[in-house]
Amino acid sequence: MSEHAFLSNKKIIITGASAGIGKTLAMGLANFGANVGLLSRSADRLSELAQEIKNKGGQAAFATGDMQKSVQVHQAINKLVQKLGGIDVLINNAGIMDLNPLPDNYDEIDRTIDTDLKGPLYCTLAVMPYFSKQHSGAIINTSSLLSLEAAANFVQYSVLYTIAKAGLNIFTRTITQRMNKDGVQVNAILPGYVKTELIHDVPQKDIDTFGAIQPEELLPFFAFFAANEDSKITGRLIPVDLFKSAAHFARKQFPGRVPTWEELEPHLKSRYSDPKFAVYGEPLRLFSEGRKVLLWLLGWNQPLMK
Ligand SMILES: NC(=O)c1ccc[n+]([C@@H]2O[C@H](COP(=O)([O-])OP(=O)(O)OC[C@H]3O[C@@H](n4cnc5c(N)ncnc54)[C@H](OP(=O)(O)O)[C@@H]3O)[C@@H](O)[C@H]2O)c1
Repeated sequence: MSEHAFLSNKKIIITGASAGIGKTLAMGLANFGANVGLLSRSADRLSELAQEIKNKGGQAAFATGDMQKSVQVHQAINKLVQKLGGIDVLINNAGIMDLNPLPDNYDEIDRTIDTDLKGPLYCTLAVMPYFSKQHSGAIINTSSLLSLEAAANFVQYSVLYTIAKAGLNIFTRTITQRMNKDGVQVNAILPGYVKTELIHDVPQKDIDTFGAIQPEELLPFFAFFAANEDSKITGRLIPVDLFKSAAHFARKQFPGRVPTWEELEPHLKSRYSDPKFAVYGEPLRLFSEGRKVLLWLLGWNQPLMK
């Protein structure tokens, strides 16, 4: 395990942990000291990953469950909470994407909406009794840049995926008041393209337009919400590419130091009022709400992976 154990013994359940982003998060967060609970349908891949984490000195447990089946999800979450000895953070990350502009059949509708929207709701309901009892907890939803209307209009495919992720955003925004009473924070991270199996069939020209990042580059975003379990930081939507661009810009404006928000804000206002950033919806509002995430990124100097 890394000497940067700032998530020491934090109990984090990650759905969709057998591959891609979820697998990278599991390894990365375990490396920062978290005790990770891995959930997906593939026992073999989860078992192998749990062993790999343990071999590196980390803590991990796994349970299988299909996001499309509420009973399986509840059982898997309960099993993981038992194995971990509790739960502090849920990362709703399992997801699928098809590229059809319009679904061909009802099965396709069920599959995507069940996995990408209902799955996170099932997981949330399953963890809420634990969070309510301890009066704390954090939920991090893996949404997508395509959930923002302007981006979805720009890249016109996968309407079901877009609907599901937009629903996840509204859930993130609206559930917060109810959950805040229980001391729970709910936030969403919105990656653009990430180099995983999920985008295997996306046309290369679309990927080239936005660019694609490595899953490791998402780690600081998830680590922020996992580390800062603060019920006041809630309902935030964080588009990854926008925040990475702003962090890059801010480093150039303030070389060698992390500025205060008051210093940074006018620079962001002058740069991100440009219409070319309208694909992110309202970038300045997102920065203002997510200012702590942005400052965290500027201070991020942990090694990404061991
Ligand atoms: N890659 C991108 O460009 C991108 C961009 C924005 C957002 N995202 C989001 O990031 C998340 C992870 O995507 P990824 O790129 O890492 O995809 P990935 O490499 O295809 O991995 C998807 C993960 O979800 C799990 N999963 C799929 N269906 C499931 C089900 N019914 N029940 C339980 N687990 C299920 C898979 O595990 P099993 O097959 O073992 O069940 C796998 O672990 C998704 O929510 C995706 O929408 C990805």
